[in-house]
Amino acid sequence: MQHITLAGTGSFVPEGKLTNADLEAMVDTSDEWIMTRTGISERRIASPEQATSDLAYEAATAALADAGLAADALGLIVVGTSTPDHIFPSVACKLQARLGCGPTTAFDVNAACTGFLSALQVAEQFLRTGAAEHALVVGADTMSRIIDYRDRGTCILFGDGAGAFVLSRSDTPGLFASRTYSDGAHYDKLYVCGGGSRAPSEGHVPHIKMNGRAIFQLAVRAMVSATEDVLKASGLTLADVDYLVPHQANKRILSAVADALGVPFERVINTIREYGNNSAASVPLAFDLAVKDGRIQRGDTVALSAFGGGLAWGAALLTY
Ligand code: UT7
Repeated sequence: MQHITLAGTGSFVPEGKLTNADLEAMVDTSDEWIMTRTGISERRIASPEQATSDLAYEAATAALADAGLAADALGLIVVGTSTPDHIFPSVACKLQARLGCGPTTAFDVNAACTGFLSALQVAEQFLRTGAAEHALVVGADTMSRIIDYRDRGTCILFGDGAGAFVLSRSDTPGLFASRTYSDGAHYDKLYVCGGGSRAPSEGHVPHIKMNGRAIFQLAVRAMVSATEDVLKASGLTLADVDYLVPHQANKRILSAVADALGVPFERVINTIREYGNNSAASVPLAFDLAVKDGRIQRGDTVALSAFGGGLAWGAALLTY
């Protein structure tokens, strides 16, 4: 089988910060409640001039530089996002032009918080079949644009950001397996009201609606089972895994996933305190931050997992 290597990673967050103290002045909440129930202290928020493609571009250029690859070598650009600059064209098309590569295959996938893993799974197929030699896979979201900052059940969770992987065909194993799943029967537990072709029943500014408690329980089960699936598909066990990089949804969700898998929390990459939930960006952002701070090193085996609106969920297993 043709192998795939993770040649480089990059990430980007905007400078603006939204702290728990800021939120205390906006809704009926407290730093103590947010920290205890979510582990989040602050999130990054895009400036009015910044859109998702701007965040994605910064992460992508960092990943290409890390891989030592010129943009025109890319045979595929896939962006996982549910907050594109416009309904169309895709963020991937904007990236292709801005990166300065020639015409190439470029499109977005929308699987909400699982978008990066869906994009990775698509890239895996292109690389295994030889349809592309190198692929840029990005997770980027500007969640602040679809948050109702009067809803304390959602506005405390989300932040803006982007993360990117450059994946290349290789003679040595890197990416072992990726799997994604969906069950649309639960769509109304987490969705964006407005902005699409179904007319909103209330208001006209698109915003997230969420049943947090229901999502919490489904999230843990889904990320655990998807992680077990990619381990089985790879012929590996948790003893072979150095780190878990789960979707950064809530510190309590990260703990519950680690407990259910029997993995000590020190082996879970947790960036939620400083960045909150960055939707499709959270897995590649957390991965890149852990590479840059020296936790994840070349040769480490890492299990990625995510869960979000759809419902959609998935996992991937790789040696960095
Ligand atoms: O990317 C995937 C996206 N979504 C998620 O990952 C969400 C997963 N769910 C969660 O993270 C949690 O369910 C939340 C953080 C959203 C909520 O935490 P919870 O422990 O499940 O709280 P809850 O919804 O069961 O609410 C408990 C109480 C309620 O008050 P009563 O009914 O007990 O009086 C809420 O009204 O906490 C109240 N509450 C708040 N209080 C202060 C809800 N939000 C807040 C808030 N500040 N921000």
